[in-house]
Amino acid sequence: MAKGIFITLEGGEGAGKSSQARMLGTALEDKGRNVLLTREPGGTTGAEAIRKLLVEGPGGKWDGITEALLHTAARRDHLVNAVWPALEAGKVVISDRFVDSMTAYQGYAYGVDRTALATLYKSAIGDFKPALTLILDLPVEAGLARAAQRVGKETRYESMGTEFHERVRNGFKEIAKAEPDRCKVIDGTQSIEAIHKIILAEVEKVL
Ligand SMILES: Nc1ncnc2c1ncn2[C@@H]1O[C@H](COP(=O)(O)OP(=O)(O)O)[C@@H](O)[C@H]1O
Ligand SMILES: [Mg+2]
Repeated sequence: MAKGIFITLEGGEGAGKSSQARMLGTALEDKGRNVLLTREPGGTTGAEAIRKLLVEGPGGKWDGITEALLHTAARRDHLVNAVWPALEAGKVVISDRFVDSMTAYQGYAYGVDRTALATLYKSAIGDFKPALTLILDLPVEAGLARAAQRVGKETRYESMGTEFHERVRNGFKEIAKAEPDRCKVIDGTQSIEAIHKIILAEVEKVL
């Protein structure tokens, strides 16, 4: 069994995941922990190549099932070549998004059958799960407004429309309800520093 600990950050566009992942990584390194800060889709050369297919270009270029397959291929490469070796080495692995994003986006938002998604995960990945998942919750309009400030080409999911993102937000809440021990929902409207403190307190409990 893995010796390290796997922590994931989840939530909609602009919820603050990447900011909080970076701050958490720095705080844990300052405490003397070995940290791997990574992201999905991505985190390895192969998975970053798949990421480009998923996050760039027009919204309708894949259907939900194709997307789930691409995310799962990227996820397996990320786990095999980055996450699992780091956990074996005793690191704290922090991933900016993981499988709950697939459940929320392709499942709750696109409407891909969630039992099929769970079967896909089980077949490709197995029983592996994060020790702790921090879900940042923010009203959709606020998150999209924050995300719009960013520069770059990774706008495909952002372009999906408000109703899509409402379903994503609701999906994350349902996921947290189903697995309350693993998932902590955090009010993302608070200040960056206040959220950081809450996250650190939750992480201390699992370290
Ligand atoms: N709690 C917060 N309050 C205000 N602005 C925030 C907060 N968290 C993040 N931001 C800002 O919102 C934008 C999106 O944050 P980011 O961490 O990239 O979100 P995500 O990775 O979830 O899409 C960034 O410009 C970031 O500085
Ligand atoms: Mg981000």
